[in-house]
Amino acid sequence: MSCQQAPLLRVNTNLQMGQTKSKMKRIAFAGICFVLIAWKESSLNTTSGPKQNSQQKQVKQYAKKDIEDGKQLIAKSDCATCHRSDFKLIGPAYKDVAIKYAASATATTYLANKIIKGGSGVWGEIPMTPHTNVSLRDGEKLAKYILSVK
Ligand code: HEC
Repeated sequence: MSCQQAPLLRVNTNLQMGQTKSKMKRIAFAGICFVLIAWKESSLNTTSGPKQNSQQKQVKQYAKKDIEDGKQLIAKSDCATCHRSDFKLIGPAYKDVAIKYAASATATTYLANKIIKGGSGVWGEIPMTPHTNVSLRDGEKLAKYILSVK
């Protein structure tokens, strides 16, 4: 007897009055099935893995336009003097920056300000030069592009 059959059997036994003993057994079996299914579903719902993943994706999903703008702004600026996407030059690889801030909800603003003001101490002692000609809006686009590098 499987769990799916149990409710049907329960209906059948309601019609067959008199067989109280087997009726009770089947109701008990249906009850156990119900508890097992409920437990299985609640354990599926509470597993933190998939939920955390979708949250991380949300943090990293930026408008395609912003990412594309950021890519073009980087090409026009001096960033390539010190940065590459996939390896450390004078500054960290964009890929590594993306990994470091993957779970941060405030990374875009933080990195935009860091690009504008420059500074050191996060990746080492060498400072990044300030880019005061970059607006906060453009800085955020640069950050969004960098955070999307895989
Ligand atoms: C003179 C070299 C140099 C140039 C030019 C430069 N950077 Fe950097 N960048 C660095 C260094 C060095 C660091 C590491 C700073 C630190 O450790 O805090 C860095 C760090 C960063 C970080 C990570 C900041 C953090 O706090 O984690 C980002 C993002 C970044 N740079 C983006 C850019 C962008 C975009 C440009 C161009 C507009 C640019 N950089 C131009 C050298 C440079």
